[in-house]
Amino acid sequence: MSFRWGIAGTGTIAKGFADALGRLRDAHLVAVGSRSRKTADEFGEKYGIAPAHRHASYEDLAVDDSVDIVYVASPHSHHHEHTLLFLNAGRPVLCEKAFALDAVQAAEMIAVARERRLFLMEAMWSRFLPAYVKVRELLAESAIGEVQSVEADFGFRLPANPTHRLFNRALGGGALLDLGVYPISLASMVLGTPERITAYSKLGATGVDEHTAILSGNGNGAVALAQCSLRATLGCTARITGTEGHIELPFMMHCPDELTIQVRSTTERLSLPAARDDDNSTAGGGLHHQARHVQERLLAGKTESDIMPLDETLAIMRTLDTARDQIGLRYADH
Ligand SMILES: NC(=O)c1ccc[n+]([C@@H]2O[C@H](COP(=O)([O-])OP(=O)(O)OC[C@H]3O[C@@H](n4cnc5c(N)ncnc54)[C@H](OP(=O)(O)O)[C@@H]3O)[C@@H](O)[C@H]2O)c1
Repeated sequence: MSFRWGIAGTGTIAKGFADALGRLRDAHLVAVGSRSRKTADEFGEKYGIAPAHRHASYEDLAVDDSVDIVYVASPHSHHHEHTLLFLNAGRPVLCEKAFALDAVQAAEMIAVARERRLFLMEAMWSRFLPAYVKVRELLAESAIGEVQSVEADFGFRLPANPTHRLFNRALGGGALLDLGVYPISLASMVLGTPERITAYSKLGATGVDEHTAILSGNGNGAVALAQCSLRATLGCTARITGTEGHIELPFMMHCPDELTIQVRSTTERLSLPAARDDDNSTAGGGLHHQARHVQERLLAGKTESDIMPLDETLAIMRTLDTARDQIGLRYADH
């Protein structure tokens, strides 16, 4: 069986995902939705979408019956509105990270998907990459003993640009939702939902968090330390430490090509390329692993993922909400 995808949005990640779909034999990009005719046509032309399915509104994409599933690739501020639009039109949805602006929005998106028995998943693509699959295997076999901590950081120095979505509060800008969600999601995958959270950040000139640190603790005493930044060139690495050793995820921690595992005095380095696959191509940078997972779940008649479950997505949004409250970050009317 093959799957016919529609993409909502025509920006950076929409293009990356379109490239990634091109690598799956059973995936077909058949439609796009954009706020403008011009960008819908340009995107459609580039990716071989028939003119009748290059929609100049998201509403028109929602009623396009040639689409089996929609990938929502709009800014954080619009994930809630767009996901509900497609779910209410009867379409399964893969929605970009961060899943929503807050847990209230996320809970509504999840409730509608469950009520309508439609597939919904947060596009936390890292979880489907070979290195992350291997991390879960190593932890399942207690390769580093009992996990005690997760340390992860992700951030770059970006030129301050008030018009860019990352510096725009109304679009859900800031380091937390865009970059911080990766370390937080890794900590959640490894340690589960934290019991206590302490966050620190000084908001920048446009009112978004530009450099944030989050310390969290779990009931069993394990801790996580996450940093994200739009202001500093962080190492973009992660380390999971257990009673017997540790696993290092090198630059970039959200899509590493290798892992280093140290158990007492023995060090092993595993090569696990994120982007390449059977065809040795790097198009789409590894996003095809996630798309393949979604298709497998749809084929199996599932309405959610066991690797990125909706309840965990909601818990991650609650962690982000707690951090946001503590640092005083508000997204426009949120
Ligand atoms: N998985 C990854 O590695 C990765 C990488 C980058 C971003 N992301 C995520 O993907 C999402 C989009 O990020 P991006 O970097 O692709 O952003 P982007 O380049 O700014 O593109 C966002 C697109 O959303 C559409 N859109 C709809 N309503 C909009 C509005 N009110 N204002 C601006 N754009 C609007 C626009 O397409 P139209 O003009 O066609 O409507 C725009 O091109 C975010 O959730 C981000 O966190 C994921």
